[in-house]
Amino acid sequence: MSAPNIETIVSLSKRRGFVYPASDIYGGLGSSWDYGPLGVELANNIKQSWWNWVVYERDDIEGLDSSIILNRNVWKYSGHETTFSDPLVDCRDCKTRLREDKLDKNDEGKLVCSNCGSTNLTEPRAFNLMFRTTVGAASAEDDPTALAYLRPETAQGIFVNFKNVLDTSRRKLPFGIAQIGKAFRNEVTPGNFIFRTREFEQMEIEYFCRPEDAPRVHQEWIDGFDEWLQSLGISSANLKHYEQTREELAHYSERTVDILYRFFPEREDEAKQWDELMGIANRTDYDLRVHSKKPEDAEGNRLNPDSTEDLSYFDPQTNERFYPYIIEPSTGVNRTLLAVMMDAYTERTNDKGETRVILKLKPEMAPIKVAVLPLAKNKPEIVEMARKIKKELQPSMRAVYDDTGGIGKLYARQDEIGTPFCVTVDHQSLEDNAVTVRDRDTWEQARVSIDQLRSHLEVRVSS
Ligand code: GAP
Repeated sequence: MSAPNIETIVSLSKRRGFVYPASDIYGGLGSSWDYGPLGVELANNIKQSWWNWVVYERDDIEGLDSSIILNRNVWKYSGHETTFSDPLVDCRDCKTRLREDKLDKNDEGKLVCSNCGSTNLTEPRAFNLMFRTTVGAASAEDDPTALAYLRPETAQGIFVNFKNVLDTSRRKLPFGIAQIGKAFRNEVTPGNFIFRTREFEQMEIEYFCRPEDAPRVHQEWIDGFDEWLQSLGISSANLKHYEQTREELAHYSERTVDILYRFFPEREDEAKQWDELMGIANRTDYDLRVHSKKPEDAEGNRLNPDSTEDLSYFDPQTNERFYPYIIEPSTGVNRTLLAVMMDAYTERTNDKGETRVILKLKPEMAPIKVAVLPLAKNKPEIVEMARKIKKELQPSMRAVYDDTGGIGKLYARQDEIGTPFCVTVDHQSLEDNAVTVRDRDTWEQARVSIDQLRSHLEVRVSS
């Protein structure tokens, strides 16, 4: 089972502290969201899993953390200043602003307003999605020399550091650079909770290889990400691939495969149930070329007169100099988190006929791994023992102590937030130095000696 719709996750998130609407006490700010105590843990677990997999478990990828505000020339030569835009139309009847490429057509082939159904729309015009800012305290708002942008992708910070990483890490092709960080886009139609927001987080790999190896490397990353997403607990039945058409490809891409997730299972039309979770592009040698000082046009003029470096690569084995091709798997943290929550969402009816929500997260993803619950909170010895157990578990796994309700209520609360194990301390624990470990998914209980508890849980949390 998975969530019937995104709304179910929105209310669970707000109720339990995964995600809140941003600036809520001032009426919010369109499509901005804050991660609460559980959301930040879940997002950190996703990022840690990605980083472990791409940086630590492989031997060919280095990490990076580049700036959010870069020299404006980065966006000039990357092509973002001229092409990073959405086609915008206004509905003349209901005044809604819409993205032309997302609208349906009627039987006569005319675009239809998704808000009121009218076909009375303006001509499309390009709207650049980059957020503008000015740099320097003395700068006037309209001073073009002070203009800068908040990065709309983390990728460019990697390309302009290609030579730094290459020289300092003494790498040879193929190798990659990985980065996790915020990106900003002034989206025309943000929405669907954290699916499309104006501020979001990306996890990007730029993998540099020889041009002739690029198609194979591309496919390896597509297959690799299929597996990684499933390792987070996302079911393969809710994932599929989409090959972008020539018209859809970004200006830098030769081939892009999107991995889609079934974000909208409630939609009748099966084709409309799916949307992009991440994209894996073959960016060719476009990026390293455009940021290099060397390439010239037919008349011998430098194509990039502002760059001070040539970002080509010298292969000592073949004595060749060339611009590496780049394979780019680009994953959104927010969309991954939403997919992980939707896939883990389950309902179960107990003996009394009450329906309970259980978030069947993989233990690795769970914000809290174990909750320690005293069965009698008015008995100081039991409370003391439970608090001590929590403290002893904490260095090896995220543990909490909770005595704010009856045991049934405490179990239900932990099930709903995905805690895989609850440890109950009772009167008998004082006699036999053992506790009850309850499993979130089966509701089965096992008696475990306190001396063995930590290793018992470590095995189960990592399985
Ligand atoms: N560097 C390539 C790049 O940025 P993209 O397809 O525009 O490619 C990559 O973005 C991923 O970033 C998307 O697949 C999605 O997961 C995430 N993403 C993009 N725009 C987003 C938005 N407005 N809100 C949330 N996530 C977004």
